[in-house]
Amino acid sequence: MAALAFVFTSVLVALVCIVDGHPLKLVPDYYASTCPEAEAIVRAVVEKAVIREARNAASLLRLHFHDCFVNGCDGSVLLDDTPTFTGEKMAAPNNGSIRALDVVDEIKAELESHCHGVVSCADVLAIAARDSVVVSGGPFYEVLLGRRDSLTASQAAANNSIPPPTSNITGLISSFRAVGLSVLDLVVLSGAHTIGRARCTNVVQRLYNQSGTFRADPTIEDDFLGYLVELCPQRGNPNTLANLDFVSPIYFDNHYFRNLQYFKGLLNSDEVLFTTSKETKELVNLFSDNKEAFFKHFPDSMIRMGNISPLTGDRGEVRFNCRYTNSGQ
Ligand code: HEM
Ligand SMILES: *[C@@H]1O[C@H](CO)[C@@H](O)[C@H](O)[C@H]1NC(C)=O
Ligand SMILES: *[C@@H]1O[C@H](CO)[C@@H](O)[C@H](O)[C@H]1NC(C)=O
Ligand SMILES: *[C@@H]1O[C@H](CO)[C@@H](O)[C@H](O)[C@H]1NC(C)=O
Ligand SMILES: *[C@@H]1O[C@H](CO)[C@@H](O)[C@H](O)[C@H]1NC(C)=O
Repeated sequence: MAALAFVFTSVLVALVCIVDGHPLKLVPDYYASTCPEAEAIVRAVVEKAVIREARNAASLLRLHFHDCFVNGCDGSVLLDDTPTFTGEKMAAPNNGSIRALDVVDEIKAELESHCHGVVSCADVLAIAARDSVVVSGGPFYEVLLGRRDSLTASQAAANNSIPPPTSNITGLISSFRAVGLSVLDLVVLSGAHTIGRARCTNVVQRLYNQSGTFRADPTIEDDFLGYLVELCPQRGNPNTLANLDFVSPIYFDNHYFRNLQYFKGLLNSDEVLFTTSKETKELVNLFSDNKEAFFKHFPDSMIRMGNISPLTGDRGEVRFNCRYTNSGQ
């Protein structure tokens, strides 16, 4: 009797959770029968791209973040502007800043030639982000899959949902809370800034105030301030690049957190995690002292970020080209 009830319940659960063959929840083996080589294909292209230029790992990781925070992980960040369509690429956090879009195209082309129309662009970003972490020396985790791609994008949501680098702790916490992420997720995921670069335009506000005096932000350590002022002069090139983790800019490790303890965080949104909240400071201290703790939490937070409002079931579509919807938008 109990066994019968179990079978009945299982069938019911299976029926409720599957629409048109697509599960409503992300799963690790989503492409096991339709494109078993999907993850190997993504991995191979990411490895090549990172050998070509180490920074591609950082740029791919950030694309997944900028996708997920704007109406969920649905590939919307990848849609190109056309004369009749406004995408997210020109939004304030993305314009002149997001990179590795060519690598995404290369991954997608390779996937299309093996399994046409099967692997979504949103999933490509999730897998490429994980692989970028791993090839940079960070922790491996199983990526959950089955996201579908959006038919739309929102420049306004991109402007409003991705926190700016000038954010204070209140702004950061509320941006993360707005997508269902916690203070722990905020600190852990900020650790992604252990790789990659930022433009001087996002730093100068900490260096100069209106009268041009140094140390607009008093929390920057003296030597580091001198280094930044030299790299990013007040009326210098806004596109000059600074490493987010000046100690080991291409290795995924916990130096990002150690830098914050020494007041050598690059962005205001980095340093405030250490200087303006007891709760986030304690987490920074934990991850500075203990790389294993950071590596244990990072996968969990990435999976939570990757679970933000995915399109599942028969919503959205699987794009053939990540830059355009299948109807050519
Ligand atoms: C906590 C709030 C965050 C803020 C305010 C923020 C802000 C920024 C800014 C301003 C840049 C430099 C952009 C430029 O100058 O062109 C940047 C780079 C980067 N961000 Fe964040 N970020 C945040 C969270 C995250 C998260 C959650 C991730 C990923 C999990 C991430 C990954 C990256 C990476 C890897 C780079 C370097 C990209 C490259 O070199 O191409 N960031 N971020
Ligand atoms: C995007 O950046 C370019 C170059 O910095 C600038 O000329 C353009 O006005 C920006 N576009 C928007 C929509 O802000
Ligand atoms: C988004 O921000 C950019 C750059 O600041 C601005 O040009 C654009 O008008 C904004 N878009 C929307 C829809 O608010
Ligand atoms: C944090 O930033 C927001 C938005 O810029 C501002 O309104 C608020 O007053 C700031 N809070 C603190 C505590 O500085
Ligand atoms: C600029 O910073 C200096 C040093 O902190 C301060 O004395 C001065 O009043 C500030 N000026 C403005 C316009 O904020």
